This record gives sequence, C-alpha cells and structure tokens, in this order.
Amino acid sequence: TTRTSDASTSRTTDDALVRALARALGGDDARVRTTDAAMEKYAVDWQNKYRGRPLCVTLPRTTEEVRAIVRLCAEYRTPIVPQGGNTGLVGGATPTEAREVVVCMERMNGILSVDEDAGCATCEAGVVLEDLESAVRSRGMTVPLDLGAKGKCQMGGCVSTNAGGLRLLRYGSLRGSVLGLEVVLANGEVLDLMRTLRKDNTGYDLKQLFIGAEGTLGLVTKVAISTPRAPLSVHVALFGLESFAKCVEMLKLARENLGEVLSAYEFFDRESLELVLAQLKGTRDPLPGKPRAFYVVVETSGSVAKHDSAKLKSFLSIVRRRGIVVDGVVGRDEKHAFALWTLRERISVALKYAGAVYKYDVSLPTARMYNLVTTLRERFEPKFGSSVKVLGYGHLGDGNLHLNISCAEYDDAIERAIEPFVYEYVRDERGSISAEHGLGLMKAEEIHYSKDAKAVALMATMKQTLDPLGIMNPRKVLPVAAVRAAAS
Ligand code: MLT
Ligand code: ZN
Repeated sequence: TTRTSDASTSRTTDDALVRALARALGGDDARVRTTDAAMEKYAVDWQNKYRGRPLCVTLPRTTEEVRAIVRLCAEYRTPIVPQGGNTGLVGGATPTEAREVVVCMERMNGILSVDEDAGCATCEAGVVLEDLESAVRSRGMTVPLDLGAKGKCQMGGCVSTNAGGLRLLRYGSLRGSVLGLEVVLANGEVLDLMRTLRKDNTGYDLKQLFIGAEGTLGLVTKVAISTPRAPLSVHVALFGLESFAKCVEMLKLARENLGEVLSAYEFFDRESLELVLAQLKGTRDPLPGKPRAFYVVVETSGSVAKHDSAKLKSFLSIVRRRGIVVDGVVGRDEKHAFALWTLRERISVALKYAGAVYKYDVSLPTARMYNLVTTLRERFEPKFGSSVKVLGYGHLGDGNLHLNISCAEYDDAIERAIEPFVYEYVRDERGSISAEHGLGLMKAEEIHYSKDAKAVALMATMKQTLDPLGIMNPRKVLPVAAVRAAAS
C-alpha cells in the first residue's frame, strides 16, 4: 500500500475514512465499530493465536454496502480483511497490525433460494453452515460440506478457504459443489457469477479463482451450491486398530466392500483420544479396556437402511476375520452415533483447551502419512520428554493428516524443532503444506514448499491484475516479495 509515513497525516486520513465508511453504512455505530471493546471479537482468531489492530470493523448488510466499503478503501489505499465466522486455523481472516478495515459478513445472512428440483441453494456469504444445512434439510437435501466449526463458520468463508471437512470423501471438494458466486472485486465492481448450472463450459471458470483465495482476489458476497438429497440411512462405526498400516489396509477394504455408501473414513491416534477424554466433559472411551493405538470412524450414508446395514455387517466380519481390527462398536442410535463422531470432530476443541498448539494440515501419500508423526515424536522425546505431545488425526480417506503439537505454552525452541523440518519433510514427499486449512498468514511465506517459483509468480500476476493496489487481505496466501515483484 502507499500509505503515508507521516503519523499525523495518516491519522487524519484514517479518521476521514472511518467517517466516510460510517456514512456509507447509514451512520449506524453498531455496523462501523472503532473501539477496542467493540472490535475485540473480530481482532483475534478463534484460537487466540493471531491478533491484529484493525482501524475499524464494518458489518455490511448488502452487496451495495460491500461495494461502497471496497471503493472507499481503494480510494484511501487501506487494506481490507474479509471475515466470516472467524473459525480459520491459519490467521487468514484475522487482521494484522496494519490498521486494516475488517469486513465482517455476519449481517449478510439471508438464504435466497432452495431449489428441490435442481438440487441447489443460493445464499449470502454470511450464512452459517449449520443454518443452511437446516434450511435444506427441511426439504430433504443436505449441504455437501460438514466440519467441526459448522455452528459458526460461514458459507463465504468456507468457499474462500475451500474448506474440506468430514465428508469430502463422499461429496468431493467445494470446487465441484459450488455452482456460482457473486464477488465484489478490489475496484468495487460486482462480478456476477451466480448461476446454478451443473454444466457450463463457456470460457474460463472464473469462480474457481475465488474458491480458496482467502479473500485476496475479491470478496465473496453470495454463493450458489449444489445440495444433494440427504441420505435416508446413516450408520457409524468406530474401530480400534493396532497399527497405522492396518488403518490403511482397512480403507481399501472399506472402499471395496462399502462402495457407494461409504461417506467418511476418519482416523485418530491414542494420544488424540486421551486428550479428548481429558479435556471434554461427557466423553467416554468408546472401547474401554485395552487402549488401542489407532481409532477409525467409518460412516455409511445410503437410501435403504436394510441394505446399508447388511453391507456394514459384512464389512465388519471381513475386517475381523482378517485380523485387521481388534475391536469395534456400531452406533446403536443417533445419539450414540453422535457420541462416536464427537471423539473425532472435537479433537481441535480439546487441543485448544489443553494450552498451546502448533497445527499442521498436510497432504501426504496415504500409506506413509503417519511416519511424519512418529518422526516428530522421535525428535521431541529426548529434548522435551512428555511435556510436548505429538498428535495425529485426520481425513485418512482423503490422504490428509492433521499433525498437532500440544504443549503448555508457545515456545520458540519447540517451534524451531518443528519448522522448517515439517515443511521440508512434506516437500520431499511431494505433499501439500496446506491440505484444507489454507495458507493464511501462517504459511504465506512457505508456499514454495508446495508450489514452484513459476506457479507462485503466476499467482502473483493474477493477484496484481485483480488487485493492483494490493488492498485485498495483504500478507495472506502469497509471499510479500512475490506480490511486490509482480507489481514492479
Ligand atoms: C479437523 O479436521 O478436525 C479440522 O480440520 C480442525 C483441525 O484440524 O484441528
Ligand atoms: Zn480437518
């Protein structure tokens, strides 16, 4: 940005911008917030890890108001930080120290249409995932995305991070499910890509640019998404296994034997379960007795309960007969199934309660995925003993490991033991340093571990084309130097 270095001029300009924003939003104090207290929940992320000092927080109600905000920020050369439910894990939606304008989408929470015939819904970006789910459920459909943060995360944020979640195995990534978008561009123009067509091969698929761009290319204001029929019968089973190799072997058998009804295949290790049991009230060991090294949650979703449960039963007997699982439990009813899911879904909440946590969200070759966890344990053991816990869990069916290092407090010595080691490891495996959480602020400078210089330069060129003033969520996703090089 080209902000003046003179502090008093800059303050005057800031004040003028805030006044102009207030006018644009109808002089509503509640929608242009400037006090520390009123901005607090937007200034810090869910984990209390990333904190900024925004100039103000704006809460637009319409696309027109978003346009006005963006136009003013462009005029004043002031950066914008789009924010949804603020549940991200990489600091992508939290402001920095740079006196930014946060654009919080929570007041744009209208569901615009639900179309049963076409199997799709349209909504504003600030609609909470669970609210959209309830709306389409009442019409027998489901949102093809489910994640632990569903009660708070917003559709615009999900799209902007290309959130993966628990049922990507079944429905694929949002890149396939999102049918249309409305985006406010960095110059304040509206790009109307709101279609609900399944097929549309007219030129480049521009909406893909904004999916997973974390608000660095434009601000998503509306979403059209496909909503498949909700499954009529859902079964959940949890298994205890002795090795990671067996979890992988069982995945192959699940694909083979459960076929089209397999809807989730998630794993966690004993360390993760112990943390959940210690931190979350009301949770119980699903397989009391001898602790197992690994646990896998398998879910089936289909349309004929009898058929689905017969499939699950035959799968169970196969994996038992072959000695792949030690023991297992099938969800008796909805409540029990929910309790089983909770053990996996709420690991990240348990980690938050446990203290400081270093989070890594990586894609690795499935069979070797867990080696990273054991390698890190070996690195930590001699230096830190049991004060540092290394946990592995995640979306095994998608080749996505969540590696988490939990300790009492953030400590540079611990971080140095993890980084760049983890990134180099993932690079050497030709994996991804961000499978589903995005790069945000945390990993913008590390993108080169997963993308070569040409790809990064092309991304920076695209950023320069769409956001020549560099006001859209700066310092997120792309390295500062790459953006600067594209601008010069
Ligand atoms: C999950 O799968 O639980 C989420 O991505 C959150 C996390 O990684 O902790
Ligand atoms: Zn995840």
